[in-house]
Amino acid sequence: MKQLLDEVKAIFMGSPAAAPFLSDWPLEEAQRAVTPSRLPVCSILDVLRPSDQTAKIWAALQGQPGLSWRQTYQAAEMSEAFLRVYGWSEFIGLRGPVPSTTIACGVLLLGPGVTYPAHAHAAEEVYIPIAGAAEWMRAEEEFCPKEIGSVIHHPSWMPHGMRTGAEGLAALYLWRGGDLAAKSIFLDS
Ligand SMILES: [Fe+2]
Repeated sequence: MKQLLDEVKAIFMGSPAAAPFLSDWPLEEAQRAVTPSRLPVCSILDVLRPSDQTAKIWAALQGQPGLSWRQTYQAAEMSEAFLRVYGWSEFIGLRGPVPSTTIACGVLLLGPGVTYPAHAHAAEEVYIPIAGAAEWMRAEEEFCPKEIGSVIHHPSWMPHGMRTGAEGLAALYLWRGGDLAAKSIFLDS
């Protein structure tokens, strides 16, 4: 986990938007036991392609044993089709192997051909796509493609969403402020 987190921190250090999150980066190493678990979407870990910039971090993620892959939503809230192609693993936060009560950090996976509809949450968020491809929308803007390595910043309660095409997406995330385990509010489009 330490090597993976060193790579994750390094990629966020290139982004001024991530600086307030990194000032709360925990000093301790992994110390919380998590139960390893997989989801159907984890199959894209073998398929997605990183860029040259993210090849090392992608290899560290693929080789990281014992990750717990989870979902925020249940079948009553999102379609089964969505839940087959959606999941995340938290590295740092209230539930991940490295405890923090002030920031959360992990990776989101989306399979091909899925829309994560416009939603919002109290937490401020920074994403960096590390493999695959997706279009992203924020505030009132249209969906537009974001390259691997792009920094995508969502201030508190800014509506945002993403959608994938033929490829899926893997994106690192940082959260801070608000309830770090809160569910998003979905917005009518
Ligand atoms: Fe979000």
